[in-house]
Amino acid sequence: MKHKPIFITSALPYANGPLHLGSMVEHTQSDIYARFMRMIGRKVVYVCADDTHGTPIEVNAAKLNKTPEQFVKEWYNHHTADLTGYHISYDSFYTTNSKESKHFTEKIFNILKKNGHIYKKEIELMYDLEAKRFLPDRYVKGICPKCGSPDQYGDNCEKCGATYNPNELLEPYSVITKSRPVVKIAEHYFFKLSSFSSKLKKWLTNNKKLQPEIKNQILGWVNEGLEDWCISRNAPYFGFKIPGEDDLYFYVWLDAPIGYMAALANELNGKVDNAEKFWNESDVTHFIGKDIIYFHLLFWPAVLMASGFSIPDNVIVHGFLNINGQKMSKSRGTFIRAIDFREKTNTEFLRYYFASNLTHTMTDLDLDLEKFISKTNNELVANVANFVYRTLSFTNKNYDSKLSTIRDTMLLEKIQKKTDEIKAAYEAFNYRDAVKNIQEIASLGNKYFQNNEPWKLIKINKEETGEVLTDCANIAKILSIVLKPILPMFSKSVEEQLNLKEQSWKDLPNYIENHKIGKAVIALQKIEKLDLQIGDKPNTKTQKKIDPFSKLNLKVAKITSISEHLKADKLLLINIDLGNNDKRQLVAGLKPFYEDINELIGKQIIVVTNLEHANLRGEQSQGMLLAGETKDSKTVKVLEAPKSKIGDQVYIERITPGSKTIKFDDFLKVKIYIENNKVMSEGKQLKSDKENIVTEINNGKVR
Ligand code: MSP
Ligand code: ZN
Repeated sequence: MKHKPIFITSALPYANGPLHLGSMVEHTQSDIYARFMRMIGRKVVYVCADDTHGTPIEVNAAKLNKTPEQFVKEWYNHHTADLTGYHISYDSFYTTNSKESKHFTEKIFNILKKNGHIYKKEIELMYDLEAKRFLPDRYVKGICPKCGSPDQYGDNCEKCGATYNPNELLEPYSVITKSRPVVKIAEHYFFKLSSFSSKLKKWLTNNKKLQPEIKNQILGWVNEGLEDWCISRNAPYFGFKIPGEDDLYFYVWLDAPIGYMAALANELNGKVDNAEKFWNESDVTHFIGKDIIYFHLLFWPAVLMASGFSIPDNVIVHGFLNINGQKMSKSRGTFIRAIDFREKTNTEFLRYYFASNLTHTMTDLDLDLEKFISKTNNELVANVANFVYRTLSFTNKNYDSKLSTIRDTMLLEKIQKKTDEIKAAYEAFNYRDAVKNIQEIASLGNKYFQNNEPWKLIKINKEETGEVLTDCANIAKILSIVLKPILPMFSKSVEEQLNLKEQSWKDLPNYIENHKIGKAVIALQKIEKLDLQIGDKPNTKTQKKIDPFSKLNLKVAKITSISEHLKADKLLLINIDLGNNDKRQLVAGLKPFYEDINELIGKQIIVVTNLEHANLRGEQSQGMLLAGETKDSKTVKVLEAPKSKIGDQVYIERITPGSKTIKFDDFLKVKIYIENNKVMSEGKQLKSDKENIVTEINNGKVR
């Protein structure tokens, strides 16, 4: 049977604040699935985007005197830096403030309208006379009409749990101006959700993949009776204007899930028709948190049904992350930003911790920092990484890195069986079981090594010992394959140590024999202590030394066209494409170094994307390209990344890209150099996820 392609998404984070460790649960959960599916040979498109619309973004941008576009762009840069730092492998991480989003939102709206699924109705809303704007429920506070608690939101009371309308609050006030809002009537668009009750019921009942507890909860809501859904909002609003209206915008929750399609279209080079086709022909698989099931299992499928698109094949719902048993909260100091955590430790440790706690349920997860440290040290470092290191370094030392043939076929067969269980566990979103089986394989390997005492046996029977080590090296190889969805970087390092090319699931039964391995390295080290303040005030800035390289945000760009600077004979004007609709002009002093400047067109180069823009003799330079220069300064050639995708991040191991705008001085503090054709910084090679950065210069510096 030929499988359908899989389209995998995570919920779109609001471009309104940093990603935190709770967000990373979801990105990690979906990333493991996407990586696993790719490894077993399925065609996968895996996307996400920033959710950029709505009142909070508009209000918060205004508070900072920024345009909403500027505001969301800044958060976008932070988010993508974090996603790279946690090795999340989105094919596209896009934005809902895009032409593709606008296209699909308008298209869907027009179909809904044409087919009579939408109507207009007057409703009563809270209005702030001072700010001259309507107030969403969360922007009105007052005394709870049920229990009398002060300072409760307009939609529900956090003290007694009551739900109500904002105009029922006692002594209401606007969160924006603190003035007393009035009730004002406005006409809005409604989607006839109620008329999809029976279709939704049928879908929920027939779908075999949805988690039963979710199904029941949603069916409960459907049975209680669904209310129609208001899909418009008044100006001022940051979003898409409704065609034919002056003052009305699409409600953010209408265009947010449509952002999945837009991100897909972006991945397909902006071809919206191809995206539609792919959507309808693939298994659409959404990963979401338990707080947004109403949107993904009621509104969204109903909108899709009403507009003739196919509905999701699966929605995987995860629980919430707590920190040391407490809800994540800024005021309690249990809010950990993704960036703070990744600066303190290897992010693969967290991926592993999450995986070992994730099942196909809505159960909450707890990040207990003591457990995190002991799990990392005992399971990952001691049981897995040390086994690999022991085996390979012993082989390096005593066998000149040469493996012989396998010996204990029974043991290896037993381990192969476990890999089937691991596969089934990944397929069932039961990563906890996958991890359990992986640990069992590592334990079997360790026990085998220990029982054979190769350090003694080698003195008696060198040949037999060599076979034992070959068995162990094969176990190391198996571990690197089955761990790859969770620990892509560690697995890659083990592959390199084993001198193997990129392995996928089908390589599991191929044993390596009479094979020369590479050099063993200590790939993971125990956590001595994790210096994170929890339960205290967040963001207390300690003066730590910031590594200059970590300020840079380097990306792969394609040169689209080139012309000469009219006022400076050494300078070229270079137009580049950074993907995601980011097209820029750079000014660079390359002219003397290329005989024919047109040979640069089409090259994929490396650009410092977060450098303050500069005016160079009347021309804007919106970033800077990196080029290598020989020691005698006579030859200069651009750095290249020919196999990468446009927009891919370029980095060095363990250092994640910066997201703030930097000055030229900051750049000068970074030392990038070329040694034997390798582009290096701080002793590590510059790379993208696909390749090491290349250059025509053999030795020299990068400018
Ligand atoms: N923008 C909407 C989603 C639109 S999808 C078309 C949104 N954004 S969010 O930033 O608030 O949340 C993004 C995802 O992170 C959601 O799936 C949410 O459940 C998840 N999480 C937010 N806090 C979380 C934890 N503490 N733990 C686990 N997941 C968490 O909702
Ligand atoms: Zn109350």
